[in-house]
Amino acid sequence: MLSQRTITLVKQSIPLLANAGVEVTEHFYQRMFAHNPELLDIFNLSNQRSGKQQFALFNALAAYATYLDQPEVLTEAIARINHKHASLSIQPHHYPIVGEHLLATLREMFVHQFTAEVEQAWAEAYAFLADLFITQEEGIYRQAEQLKGGWRGTRRFCISKIVSESELVKSFYLKPLDARPVMPFQPGQFLAIQCRIPGENHQQIRQYSLSHTSNSQFYRISVKRDNLVSGYLHRLREGDELDVMPPAGDFVLRQTHVPKVLISAGVGITPMMSMLHTLAEQAFNQPLYFLHACRNPAQQSFQAELTSAAQSLSMLTIHTWMEENGNDLVCANNHAGRIRLAPLSTSLPLEHGEFYLCGPTPFMADIKQQLIALGVDNSRILYEVFGPHESL
Ligand code: HEM
Repeated sequence: MLSQRTITLVKQSIPLLANAGVEVTEHFYQRMFAHNPELLDIFNLSNQRSGKQQFALFNALAAYATYLDQPEVLTEAIARINHKHASLSIQPHHYPIVGEHLLATLREMFVHQFTAEVEQAWAEAYAFLADLFITQEEGIYRQAEQLKGGWRGTRRFCISKIVSESELVKSFYLKPLDARPVMPFQPGQFLAIQCRIPGENHQQIRQYSLSHTSNSQFYRISVKRDNLVSGYLHRLREGDELDVMPPAGDFVLRQTHVPKVLISAGVGITPMMSMLHTLAEQAFNQPLYFLHACRNPAQQSFQAELTSAAQSLSMLTIHTWMEENGNDLVCANNHAGRIRLAPLSTSLPLEHGEFYLCGPTPFMADIKQQLIALGVDNSRILYEVFGPHESL
């Protein structure tokens, strides 16, 4: 347990983290990568360049400090981070490294405010949080290992099939080289791919949502071509091999018997496809809405799969929105422009339904705002952020 004095000192210094500007976060990461370059094999350097991940850590620590005496407030947020970490195979020995550079950064950047006493308090608070993370992440590793077809760390997979889903998205079917079963996953979860790209100095790890139902033979991820790793994946061929980490993630379909609304934009459709196929397999008999936005018809993925899902799910209603060239397609359920929920409000299950969101952060923030304005309770709005988590 942390002493009252420690809690007070940590809380008093929250503004240092909450208001940490770019120069502080950059100092931290530059310091850490200079002393521990092996971590460059774990962190997503594209996120580093965009600065998003840099703030995620400091914001999380500021939130942790704020609720130091009410940790239950952060249970969900911590679980989300634990799943992200576990999917990347973060290990206990990484925690003291991050802790050391965090304290050193605060000491070096806030010479007057970050006194020896405050530093001692933060060292205790960080160790407390790190222990919690390590225990919870070990729980996720162990659970994955114990499931039939489960494993820990990386496992070698072969790309058994590649399917072009649209102009930008390709699906990769992955089968383990050892030909043993693969562990089950929950619709909405993702897995991480670890690869060495020719010409790059560091190994790359990226997480991709699973886009199919859980089965014991293969996984399917569907990847949009837009950066270093996805570009590399798009150049791979059937028969090529990849290192894969076990599925993880806490954005999952609830096993409840209430209406569900799956709302996605662009490649955010991927976890929704897994949810949709799973509901079809379970012969889900409650109202189900699949609302999807994309730029234009050439970028609309999974059209044939959606049509066949509609045939097996009698309660499914599909609506699509297109920003460009969608006018030709406008009919009852095809709309031009961005998703507007108000016109559908009389049919949507606003009072009891669950709303699942996935897509770019501004898109989800907008949809969440529309849902709240229509009276949907926050607890029934679930979402997944691709990339470092940003609060909506
Ligand atoms: C992601 C917090 C320790 C590596 C994240 C995220 C948060 C976070 C908030 C974003 C999660 C999301 O996207 O939803 C923390 C906290 C830590 C901690 C509070 C300490 C108690 C570590 C350690 C490592 C690590 C020890 C390994 C050296 C990563 C990586 C990501 C990540 C690689 C993915 C994002 C990226 O690659 O840009 N962490 N973290 N974290 N964390 Fe941690």
